[in-house]
Amino acid sequence: MTNTLTIRRPDDWHLHFRDGEVMRGVVPYTARQFARAIVMPNLTPPVTTTELAAAYRERILAAVPEGVDFTPLMTCYLTDATDPDDLARGANEGVFTAAKLYPANATTNSASGVTNVETIYPVLERMEAEGIVLCIHGEVTDADIDVFDREAEFIERHLRAIVANFPKLKVVFEHITTSDAVEFVKASGPNVAATITPQHLHINRNAMLVGGIQPHNYCLPVAKRETHRLALRAAATSGSAKFFLGTDSAPHLRGDKESACGCAGIFGAPYALESYVTVFDQEGALEHFEGFASLHGPAFYGLPVNESSVTLERAEVQVPAELDLAGSTIVPWHGGQTIGWRFVG
Ligand code: DOR
Ligand code: ZN
Repeated sequence: MTNTLTIRRPDDWHLHFRDGEVMRGVVPYTARQFARAIVMPNLTPPVTTTELAAAYRERILAAVPEGVDFTPLMTCYLTDATDPDDLARGANEGVFTAAKLYPANATTNSASGVTNVETIYPVLERMEAEGIVLCIHGEVTDADIDVFDREAEFIERHLRAIVANFPKLKVVFEHITTSDAVEFVKASGPNVAATITPQHLHINRNAMLVGGIQPHNYCLPVAKRETHRLALRAAATSGSAKFFLGTDSAPHLRGDKESACGCAGIFGAPYALESYVTVFDQEGALEHFEGFASLHGPAFYGLPVNESSVTLERAEVQVPAELDLAGSTIVPWHGGQTIGWRFVG
């Protein structure tokens, strides 16, 4: 039995840091485990320009603890009015690593998102030409589409067309939650990949709704049926380079989750690697963990792999039921549970 695992230092290809005091409180958790992270731009107001992204990057870097090597990779929040020249300039100057497509009103702080994907086709054309990665929150928002069907419907209505119209555009289908998404990504060419969160590998939709409403298991896209969870586990642990790590760690303070209108998002950063490695262990696929966590993402983004390493060991770890954050508290993913792996460093 493998009791210790040393892998190249991983990266988190999708996460939310927020801003201000919350950001300063959560950055150390990610910087402890990951060398780089793709930082989501859904702040209020959103990060829509090179100038805003450069300033946000500085604020994040100021929150990285002394002596820790961590690089935030910035994304541009696409709107109906995105200026392709500014996006291209930001990418060429090394400010933007990717751009993020939120369908308007799909999730937290997405009100300024894209109202009709075809409106931004000129931007996608420019991104394809410049080699800028497109990260997609793949859910339709129409009120007549069931919340559990929104991802599958997005594939049919928009994603097939995007991939067909822009064959050289690199597309990350983010935080996938369905077997439909797994099949779509597998059937697409090498320019299409997906990130998978720890929560969607661990829970199905029962975890939100059985035994009372469980707000700390609520995120978007919502967890789906067990068949989908199993398809995600198979994809993540398969060794396929099309699937890689993206926690979608999305901090919301405890009171904002435990509310009559609770926020979507799971704070996965503090025990992210322990959570993922548990899944690979359960699936008998520890040999594929380094690929998923540390190799497939850099290969897709065309970035070097990290030279340093991290070690995980089999050991019982009690995850705190809550953590202090910004003068309040937050419930981490696996809060109050015992997990079977420990992050050594
Ligand atoms: O659960 C989520 N939370 N999903 C998202 O797409 C956004 C995120 C957030 O920003 O809180
Ligand atoms: Zn997200």
